[in-house]
Amino acid sequence: MSSAKVTQRRAFRRTDDHTPGTPKLKFVEETLPLPLAPTAVLIKVHAVALNYRDANIANGGNPWPVIPNGILCNDAAGEVIAIGDKVKSLSIGNRVSPVTDTGFISGREGKRSWLAADEDGVMADHIVFDEECLSKIPDYLNWVDASIVPCAGVTAWSALKGMEIGQTVLIQGTGGVSVFAMKLARAAGLRIILTSSSDAKLEQMKEKYSNPPILTVNYSQTPDWDEEVLKLTGGVGVDIVVENGGAGTLMKSLRCTRRGGIVSQVGYLSKQVEPNALRELVPTLIDRRINLRGINAGSKFDMEDLHAALAAVETPLNDLIDRTFSFEEAEEAVEYVWQGKQIGKIVLRL
Ligand SMILES: NC(=O)c1ccc[n+]([C@@H]2O[C@H](COP(=O)([O-])OP(=O)(O)OC[C@H]3O[C@@H](n4cnc5c(N)ncnc54)[C@H](OP(=O)(O)O)[C@@H]3O)[C@@H](O)[C@H]2O)c1
Repeated sequence: MSSAKVTQRRAFRRTDDHTPGTPKLKFVEETLPLPLAPTAVLIKVHAVALNYRDANIANGGNPWPVIPNGILCNDAAGEVIAIGDKVKSLSIGNRVSPVTDTGFISGREGKRSWLAADEDGVMADHIVFDEECLSKIPDYLNWVDASIVPCAGVTAWSALKGMEIGQTVLIQGTGGVSVFAMKLARAAGLRIILTSSSDAKLEQMKEKYSNPPILTVNYSQTPDWDEEVLKLTGGVGVDIVVENGGAGTLMKSLRCTRRGGIVSQVGYLSKQVEPNALRELVPTLIDRRINLRGINAGSKFDMEDLHAALAAVETPLNDLIDRTFSFEEAEEAVEYVWQGKQIGKIVLRL
């Protein structure tokens, strides 16, 4: 093993106490899983990005099982500081990010293993991964900007697959996946309709994407926002939806998608609805010939494709960062995301 002499790490593990107002994270100093396996690498972490999923897991709301007291978060950017004897694709000094689902490398695997759920996550100053789970970060991205790519970025990338220049996309909300999807949609020449519960957030996004202007709908003030989206598209509907709401918004999303369009089911932000409210699901899918597809972030190959696409034109990502926190402020950062205060991404700097 070529190595730096690091044997301990600092990390935040979940307390698994879901009582409101109690700490959700516990700071730990623990021994690293060393010596490295032959194809593993040791990474010094420089930035960790947070997602809604992390706040949801910390508060006990994840719809999938999680290991007890696991390390939170799945998005990190860091530097390789030691490698196992048989590592072929990486060397010391390489800048890397782990894939969110370490069971999903090429995109053909049937298994899954999500960071921070099926296994420990990355909210730590050092992490160990097999080389096959890591993608090299483009040189032009700094640590903070690079850290938002694996989950929010790859999810937005997967959700927009199949889009064509000139098509119209409906993007729900102004969170991390949405602002990344806006960036990609704009770069790809799509017309954008953005929804939010906040006029102030919509104004901010309109100012940012003013030329040409984006179209917006406040889904809170306009409960029949699907009809508004239909109006904005001349009654035809959008070509593709980045569906973040889940069960509570899906029917409306289907109604304002054009016949033959795509609905990418990304999120589950809305509360569960009465099963009766979904009684039109199958007839609407059939009648509108909609391609409803589940998005589960993406494979490592997807992340490499996205890294290549970003690097090709050096797409700036710094404007997607709402706020950075220090590593020590992890608890506060999780609460900030849980309260939905952000437009875009929250990142811990190490
Ligand atoms: N399937 C996957 O692979 C995958 C990957 C990443 C994330 N996700 C899921 O996707 C969703 C978004 O994740 P994120 O990290 O981007 O979250 P986030 O940064 O916390 O953003 C959430 C934003 O969505 C909007 N929102 C909340 N409730 C909504 C509703 N009922 N309808 C429409 N918009 C709503 C809000 O925007 P406004 O304040 O503007 O209203 C909120 O700020 C979450 O459910 C997350 O778990 C799934």
